[in-house]
Amino acid sequence: MADNTHSQAKSTGVQTTGHVWDGDLQELNNPLPVWWTYTFYATMVFALAYWLAYPSWPIGKGFLPGMNTITYVNTEGKEESWHWNTRAKLLKETQDAVIAQKPYYDKIAGLPYEEIAKDPELSSFIVSAGKAVFSDNCAACHQAGGQGKVGFFPNLADDDWLYGGSYATINQTLTKGRRGYMPPFNESLEAGQIDQLAHYVFSLSGGKADPAKVAKGKDLFHSQAGACYYCHGDNAKGRMDIGSANLTDQVWLWADVPGSPDDTVKIDAIRKVIVGGLNKGVMPAWEGRLSAEQIKLLTVYVHELGGGK
Ligand code: HEC
Ligand code: HEC
Repeated sequence: MADNTHSQAKSTGVQTTGHVWDGDLQELNNPLPVWWTYTFYATMVFALAYWLAYPSWPIGKGFLPGMNTITYVNTEGKEESWHWNTRAKLLKETQDAVIAQKPYYDKIAGLPYEEIAKDPELSSFIVSAGKAVFSDNCAACHQAGGQGKVGFFPNLADDDWLYGGSYATINQTLTKGRRGYMPPFNESLEAGQIDQLAHYVFSLSGGKADPAKVAKGKDLFHSQAGACYYCHGDNAKGRMDIGSANLTDQVWLWADVPGSPDDTVKIDAIRKVIVGGLNKGVMPAWEGRLSAEQIKLLTVYVHELGGGK
């Protein structure tokens, strides 16, 4: 091996590194391509510039902070500069967004709902900013598109409302929160009666149920013992002041098993609601957590989601 160190390959005339395999397989010592060499130098220059511009090398207990700075407004309202870092960057971006949104929020604060909805400039702001505030605060429960989840959270994207879909009621719902309550009937009614009521309620939205039970259930619904009419109304269409559901519209929040083609399963779900009552529908109050303007923005956003009323 030693004798062909830095000799030239016979076939190409290029200098070799002296490594030989299998007796005649040589490694050529070609110079590096020019593009590669310059790219390599460029990365060195870039690294140097980067070290100078951004926080880089540790020095003692500190580090080289770099020459790039970020200027933002501190909590006392004064401008302050900090060496570039991601926390300052986030702070600055958040402030910029608040500053950019302020004229819109000011306009929203000063206008009645109808005009906010009609204003073309505000409409697109409501779609984008409303969507962002909704995603941050509401989507965890009501889902990203406001479609809700049967058994948990009402759908806000239909025009069916528990408490009402006017601007004023939506605003009230958001500001103060809501908590629907229906008492359990397992002690005041017998199982047979609850069964009759469940059949009657199922029939109200067009479900096929045993006619004899439906007739008995109807009497119970309007009797003192059942007292259903008291909260759901004589026509069973619900009372929006207490958020008792409309039982005639095929829109169910609690008493449903989505996707089940089986009527007995659905009647059973209604039976469960009557037996156990309802006290789990808690819509939190947003007063104090969101600003009045944000609540106003969301009111319009939710109103548009559900087609309003
Ligand atoms: C912790 C879960 C949760 C969060 C978060 C939440 N909601 Fe609700 N929301 C509910 C529940 C549950 C109800 C139904 C209350 C009831 O059944 O009485 C409801 C009811 C509503 C209603 C009334 C619907 C109707 O049909 O009348 C509106 C409007 C509403 N929410 C909007 C919002 C908005 C906007 C936000 C974000 C600021 C939000 N909710 C955040 C759980 C939530
Ligand atoms: C004190 C008032 C009150 C009484 C009495 C009452 N309900 Fe309710 N009911 C409610 C409220 C409020 C809701 C909605 C709860 C919520 O959304 O959180 C509800 C919901 C329901 C639901 C579920 C609707 C859905 O969308 O899934 C059914 C079914 C129902 N009631 C049937 C009855 C029947 C049958 C009776 C009589 C035995 C009755 N209720 C008596 C207040 C009442």
